[in-house]
Amino acid sequence: MKKYQIALIPGDGIGKEVIPECARVLKTLAKCYSKISFDFQEFDWGGDYYRQHGVMMPEDGLDALRNKDAILFGSAGDPDIPDHITLWGLRLKICQGFDQYANVRPTRILPGIKSPLRQCEPHQLDWVIVRENSEGEYSGVGGRAHQGHPTEVATDMSILTRVGVERVQRFAFNLAQSRPRKHLTVITKSNAQRHGMVMWDEIAVQIAKEFPDVTWDKELVDAATARMINRPESIDTVVATNLHGDILTDLAAALAGSLGIAPTGNIDPERRYPSMFEPIHGSAFDIMGKGLANPIGTFWSAVMMLEHLGEKDATKCLMTAIEKVTTNPALHTRDLGGTAMMKDVTEAIIKEIHL
Ligand code: IPM
Ligand code: MG
Repeated sequence: MKKYQIALIPGDGIGKEVIPECARVLKTLAKCYSKISFDFQEFDWGGDYYRQHGVMMPEDGLDALRNKDAILFGSAGDPDIPDHITLWGLRLKICQGFDQYANVRPTRILPGIKSPLRQCEPHQLDWVIVRENSEGEYSGVGGRAHQGHPTEVATDMSILTRVGVERVQRFAFNLAQSRPRKHLTVITKSNAQRHGMVMWDEIAVQIAKEFPDVTWDKELVDAATARMINRPESIDTVVATNLHGDILTDLAAALAGSLGIAPTGNIDPERRYPSMFEPIHGSAFDIMGKGLANPIGTFWSAVMMLEHLGEKDATKCLMTAIEKVTTNPALHTRDLGGTAMMKDVTEAIIKEIHL
């Protein structure tokens, strides 16, 4: 029997609702697959912790996570705390502290879900976007001077390193190679950003040579948004810098029907540290505490976690259960235009797993 040590960080807002639901679902899975079990440890980090301690997580918090097999994260964000504090104090601290440099975001139109794209069959939209997750526009390098004076200046430097670009592009080529279409689109903006993005393009040409069986193309990020809408079927696997990936994945999630469904893995491909899995939707304070959240984004993130842990049967079982449940409009939450409550969805998933 394999026992997995899983850290649960519900964080803020609806994260506090969806993570316990996900733990219930994983416990059910463990009951059905006697080869696996989960040992959960929950951490109360986030906005409330900040109000008490002045930090989003303890100084030595990473040490408590270091030996876990994986981390399930809800969301971070609080109406009373500036966003850059909640982000850098928790999620980015973990992503960067554990060098989870590949942010993997699959997008599909699940059965029963409507895409806002007219004339788009579900099979025409099946993407995985790999977002660079350790540097680029989110490097944190920059500063402010002369605050409050007319001479005030502020900078955010986008840092691209050869090591950082090579590793994330190689990861994306590998992922593309593992998918049936074997196609990678490299997102760039080298027409306007003539240093870092030009190096990014050059490195793509170099890494592509390691993958002769993968076809690839290059797309400017602005043109990519139009292509996602007009020719979704021309896209398969995508690699983009941190900010470009951030923007394109929100568009992708919306095109697949709802931000409430979309999952993410913050992956350390070398497995030196635990990887972290989370729904894409954020804390959604407007609906928190009402039981309205869509837990599917978290459940799909758990699927990614199980896949990362190498648990093929459990991965398949949970994904099949999710697809069964989304097929039924009576089980659609409000973000999907339905009236189902979060608990209805969880119960239905648990029932499907037992089948
Ligand atoms: C995401 C989110 C975050 C990001 C926000 C909450 C800062 O949008 O995971 O895509 O930009 O990284
Ligand atoms: Mg985002």
